[in-house]
Amino acid sequence: MISQREAHERCASDPSRFWLEAAQAISWDRMPTIGCETRDSPSGRWFADGRLNACYNAVDRHVDAGRGEQLALVQVSAITGSESRYTYRELRDEVARVAGALQRLGVVAGDRVILYMPMVPEAVFAMLACARLGAIHSVVFGGFAARELAVRIDDAAPRVVLSASCGLEPGRVVDYHSLLVRALDLAVHKPAHCVVLQREQSPAALRRGLDLDWHDFIDGAVAAAPVSMPSQAPLYVLYTSGTTGKPKGVVRDTGGYLVALEWSMQYVFDTAPGETFWAASDIGWVVGHSYIVYGPLVHGCTTILFEGKPVGTPDAGTYWRVVERHRVNTLFTAPTALRAIKREDPQGLLMRASQLDSLRALFLAGERADPDTVRWAAELLRIPIVDHWWQTETGWPMVANGLGFERLPVKPGSPTLPLPGYALEVLDADNQPLPAGKQGSLAVRLPLPPGCLPSLWNDERGFFDAYLREHPGYYRTGDGGYLDEDGYVFVMGRIDDVINVAGHRLSTGELEQAIAGHAAVAECAVIGVADALKGTVPLGLVVLKAGITRTAAEIVAELIARVREEVGPVASFQRCHVVARLPKTRSGKVLRATMRAIADGRPYEIPATIEDPAALEEIRSTLDSR
Ligand code: COA
Ligand code: AMP
Repeated sequence: MISQREAHERCASDPSRFWLEAAQAISWDRMPTIGCETRDSPSGRWFADGRLNACYNAVDRHVDAGRGEQLALVQVSAITGSESRYTYRELRDEVARVAGALQRLGVVAGDRVILYMPMVPEAVFAMLACARLGAIHSVVFGGFAARELAVRIDDAAPRVVLSASCGLEPGRVVDYHSLLVRALDLAVHKPAHCVVLQREQSPAALRRGLDLDWHDFIDGAVAAAPVSMPSQAPLYVLYTSGTTGKPKGVVRDTGGYLVALEWSMQYVFDTAPGETFWAASDIGWVVGHSYIVYGPLVHGCTTILFEGKPVGTPDAGTYWRVVERHRVNTLFTAPTALRAIKREDPQGLLMRASQLDSLRALFLAGERADPDTVRWAAELLRIPIVDHWWQTETGWPMVANGLGFERLPVKPGSPTLPLPGYALEVLDADNQPLPAGKQGSLAVRLPLPPGCLPSLWNDERGFFDAYLREHPGYYRTGDGGYLDEDGYVFVMGRIDDVINVAGHRLSTGELEQAIAGHAAVAECAVIGVADALKGTVPLGLVVLKAGITRTAAEIVAELIARVREEVGPVASFQRCHVVARLPKTRSGKVLRATMRAIADGRPYEIPATIEDPAALEEIRSTLDSR
């Protein structure tokens, strides 16, 4: 077995050769002979002459290889108590029918299809059906509000929107259909068709002539065959929060992505075809795309699609019961989920009540894995707990202790070493690499490995500005951190206005935009502050216009409701204070980092350029008194 360092060096010495070899592990209609090209894009484009179909790779090829009777997809709902199972053959038939139904609505390769769906099997069928036709899916997370959905509809300009009547949250039915209708009112682009899956918990009143019932949509549809696509054809667009209020449409190519995922299933997750892989995430996030749908299926695993929460559906033993019942080999979740379980079951009594002998490793990502939680899980589970660092843009891990390699010594607080393809450096503001131990901006020397974003949807300029401009020759991750003398990576958090709330990525700019739209608000700032459960939660500081006579409490309540209404409940926006003014530098920059330090009770220095020290003092006393 080679070491991760050796693999990294081998890849660095000839990336095209390394990844062309890895490319043999998936099925191509035309095997690529070209690895990485940087002529038109410094970030790199992969496998220019290859052709393939992503759905064929995820589904049909396993049936063709004689594994049609193996379980492919198991949907488990801890909310309804239901469960459904699909073999690879059944999955192929379902997906081919949905693809045929989309074709009947006129969907062809290159068209966009938006999915606004809960964690039901039909959502996975729909993603794969788009891939089968070469259509580009864009899944929107259900916890976003109508306005966020509308922004995505306008940007992606889909031919079809696929949705469901409702989503199920603990103790609450989320009326997806009403949210969709509101979003369609707000959006300028009008999709040609809306298809609605009626769930028995709350069927929707379909709009006559405008909505198509899912059953009518698929009724009589003829199974569609996979369409051979160029390797670089977009497979999906996934919107993520950036530093502005406008989400970024991260584009994913087809061939590079599947090669990277297949490689990661072997070398990062150390799984084998036929094993059961469970990423307890949502299909609305990148983890869901890469490790609920495409990664495990391309690799021939059984994947679990889980509707529910780590706690409260009905208790903190849910995850462990799913692991036991479905003989899960690899579990992937967010540190927040573990913190929630730990809080309710600190002794691990519910954990011990389940037979967990199938479980070989627990992977954590999406936010910083705090050493206390990692230690707690390691002591109780006695399996490797693997912290790994990546983001929507990269599509697969950048830094991890790959379990397919010789085991690396673990250092608490570090996801260990970069994976092959990622030449990670720490840069200062002048773009100079920093020595070991010095904190700066974490950046990847170009080109990027396969699987990473080639661009933003219809926004090449935005791609350059957001990721390539600041550090010429590098991809800027947006995270800060340092490398130690052994090359271990320590990720210290975002250095831009992105925050991670319970593993969900949000932009403070997006929240500020919603708050600033309130008639009483003159100025506002949103910062992310530490939270014992969710890692970070947003905190709003608001200056009111002169002459506002209503109480601060009334306005704060309206602002909380407004953020929920405009951005969505997922923002968990509960903390907001009215202040007389915001502390700023003389050039007008709001002192966010200083306010964050005050809110978190960390030491801070008052910048020499501060305009009005009294404003900072007011923030301190406001936050101290809570
Ligand atoms: N559709 C509609 N609403 C949703 C939603 C969805 N798919 N997902 C979340 N929401 C809503 C919730 O109902 C909640 O609304 P509420 O304010 O009415 O209670 C709000 O958004 C916040 O949800 P959530 O972040 O799930 O917080 P919570 O307080 O309900 O639960 C945890 C706390 C820790 C259990 C939960 O945050 C969790 O499971 N975190 C792990 C996240 C994760 O696995 N992320 C994957 C990234 S890899
Ligand atoms: P997302 O694009 O939603 O996956 O969020 C990506 C961001 O989450 C990263 O830029 C980091 O800020 C954070 N993140 C993800 N994984 C980790 C990790 N293992 N450690 C620290 N931060 C992480």
